[in-house]
Amino acid sequence: MLPILLPFVIAMAKKESAASDIVARRGLYYQAFGIYEGVAGFYDYGPVGLRIRRKLEAQWRNIFVNRTGALEIETSLIVPEIVLKASGHIDTFTDPITACETCKTPYRADKLLEAHYEKKGMTKELDSVKKMGIEHMDRALREAGIKCEKCGNKLGKVEKFNLLFKTQVGPYGGSSSYLRPETTQGIYVDFPYLFKTQGMKLPCAVAQVGPAFRNEISPRQQLVRVREFTQMEYEMFIDPAEEPEELFGYGMDEVLKTKINFIRSDGGEKEEMLSLRELLEEGNIPNRHFAFLLYLEEKLLNAIGMDRKAYRFRELVKEELPHYSRGNVDLEIRTGYGYIEVAGNAYRTDWDLSQHAKTSGNDLSVINGEKRLVPHVVEASMGSGRLMFALLENSCVEDAERGWNWLRLDGSVAPYRYAVFPLQKDEKLIAKAKEIYRLMVEKDVDCYYSETASIGKRYARADEVGIRSCITVDYTTLEDDTVTVRDRDTTKQVRKKFVDIL
Ligand code: GAP
Repeated sequence: MLPILLPFVIAMAKKESAASDIVARRGLYYQAFGIYEGVAGFYDYGPVGLRIRRKLEAQWRNIFVNRTGALEIETSLIVPEIVLKASGHIDTFTDPITACETCKTPYRADKLLEAHYEKKGMTKELDSVKKMGIEHMDRALREAGIKCEKCGNKLGKVEKFNLLFKTQVGPYGGSSSYLRPETTQGIYVDFPYLFKTQGMKLPCAVAQVGPAFRNEISPRQQLVRVREFTQMEYEMFIDPAEEPEELFGYGMDEVLKTKINFIRSDGGEKEEMLSLRELLEEGNIPNRHFAFLLYLEEKLLNAIGMDRKAYRFRELVKEELPHYSRGNVDLEIRTGYGYIEVAGNAYRTDWDLSQHAKTSGNDLSVINGEKRLVPHVVEASMGSGRLMFALLENSCVEDAERGWNWLRLDGSVAPYRYAVFPLQKDEKLIAKAKEIYRLMVEKDVDCYYSETASIGKRYARADEVGIRSCITVDYTTLEDDTVTVRDRDTTKQVRKKFVDIL
């Protein structure tokens, strides 16, 4: 077995940052299909990584769904062609591609240009990439003299590449369908049914957490650009003429006085702490409902313990807006790869519902008070993999004094609340530790048990993945039912009666 496993493990252990080192060594996530050399853009989550991601999703659900009374649904992963024709994905869901004329390696043309300008410190040109069309990008690539990163040969013409994964439903060729590129289209096509059956009225929100698929040209940067990922999407259906004083029990005063770190579309890289009211009044965000989305996102980041200095909201320039949008603000978080987009907030207007109404021949308008209208939509769309990646990068403490690096994860997202350890391999200690462990898990306390390796190594492993506290069962425990409780952040140990922890 060992000769097969060894190269596989080594292949995964890429050291790109202190956090990535922990990820690789402790298997938080890893290349899928590793024993077959892996497939780019697909990752499997190991037990600790999955726990952290699920806890992030639970925090999102708590803030976005439970606290706003949104309806959470689960829709089909496979979508018939007509739905994505209506939404515009078949025609416009593309990225610019170029490929090496010799070795055929494909590249995302905009990313090649951005990396080139960044390396050369050409900030004006770097900013301009977002605004470039295909021809302009092709010219810029040649003028910059960019060649294939692998073999150094000439790159081909820049073209558009559609990111949808195509499949067939049914035998004998079946009907053309696609893996969904976003969860939200399922919400739009279900909207009229939900509106009728769930007693909804505007404004109202529908949410979905689940997989999305995109055939990315060059997946890279671990979980940042992958081909299969989980989205957490929140769609609020609104009457655009309304300027509510409260939304789902939240007073607008409280919402609008919230300050966020913001970059305006004409502000270059200048970050300013601005209230949502200022942003609304100055036209950087389109409406109060949209302000509410940013308020919820700020709340979520707070709840999961994200460092406030590590993130910002950025208003997109006109040329960056998706085909359906009349205003976008991205949530960006700093990582070892620079700032990455973790959430896209968009004012999708009535684009999607109107398109589905037109294509399906169904009337998707609803009654709001005296008026009939096709609702507008504001959307908050976040990837839980990217959120987790950004959180890990910002939580990693490089600790030379301790002798190992560790994740300072907030209790809300730490993989376990407690680790339970017998001090050493002694039958009596093991039996007592297991008894304590069982009592805790039966009380639904998040617990991890281990008796392997020295106690020092077990503390190190628990710290590394961010377990909040370690409970050690020693010989005194056998006499008086006290245990030592070691705090991850301070490494201080206190002795406590075990029952006081429960
Ligand atoms: N429904 C709107 C929508 O899908 P998006 O900006 O394309 O908007 C939203 O995607 C979020 O989904 C992104 O901010 C990111 O967190 C996540 N995401 C998108 N593409 C991704 C990819 N290839 N790999 C990982 N996460 C991705």
